[in-house]
Amino acid sequence: MHADTGRAGRLGLISRLLTDALHTVTEPGRTAQLLDCGGGSGTYAVPLAVAGANVTVIDISADALATLSHRAAEAGVAHQVHPVQGDVEALADLVGGRSFDLVLAHGILEAVDSVAAAFAGIAAAVRPGGLMSVLVSNPAALVIARALAGEPALALAELTELDTAESRIGPAAIQQLCTAAGLLVEARHGIGVFSDLVPGSALDAPGARDALERLDADAAARAPFAEIAGRVHLLVRRPA
Ligand SMILES: C[S@@+](CC[C@H](N)C(=O)[O-])C[C@H]1O[C@@H](n2cnc3c(N)ncnc32)[C@H](O)[C@@H]1O
Repeated sequence: MHADTGRAGRLGLISRLLTDALHTVTEPGRTAQLLDCGGGSGTYAVPLAVAGANVTVIDISADALATLSHRAAEAGVAHQVHPVQGDVEALADLVGGRSFDLVLAHGILEAVDSVAAAFAGIAAAVRPGGLMSVLVSNPAALVIARALAGEPALALAELTELDTAESRIGPAAIQQLCTAAGLLVEARHGIGVFSDLVPGSALDAPGARDALERLDADAAARAPFAEIAGRVHLLVRRPA
């Protein structure tokens, strides 16, 4: 994978999805209450606070939360961003049983010991009618990445693993957890469909980076492209 290629485009797509989500959960005359689980240094929390939300950020890392506070102050939204240090697997204790309009779980379900327990805790923090935004890595993309890197034996091992590792975290597992919890997956987008595969050195032609960003955005919700993306974003609603 090529970490720098298309990073702005990937963030841009997720930011657009989150801004739209924020509008659908914001009730007239109220400030939207958001929870960012494993929110780290505020990649999403700070822009969402700038967009007008109150954001509680849970993270286990004191360093990440220090960076978050610094970024929030720089953006003039320190009063809207509330860092809480702790383990997302004890979420109910950390937030005192509160529920939120929009709950983010980006890149956190890969880091917990029990995905099912963590997912249940995160889902329980979504108010009826509210949304959960889940960003999860896609095991299918690893097969392609290994093969393109000239590692067919490792690609084959990853491919076999797709059939055997029932508990492996990925979009299919999240979809199953949502269905079991009575949550509705409203949208599903592949993030970085092509930009994760293209080396930056192949994008020197004028306009190539912009074109790749548009290609990624247009492919994000279309089969079969969305299924091979390195990460998948799911927008999930708790029925009212
Ligand atoms: C891959 S980063 C994702 C950061 C951010 N959500 C994003 O998408 O840019 C994972 C974050 O989860 C935090 N983390 C890992 N395990 C955690 C846990 N059990 N409870 C709370 N935070 C955790 C890490 O400190 C890190 O900031």
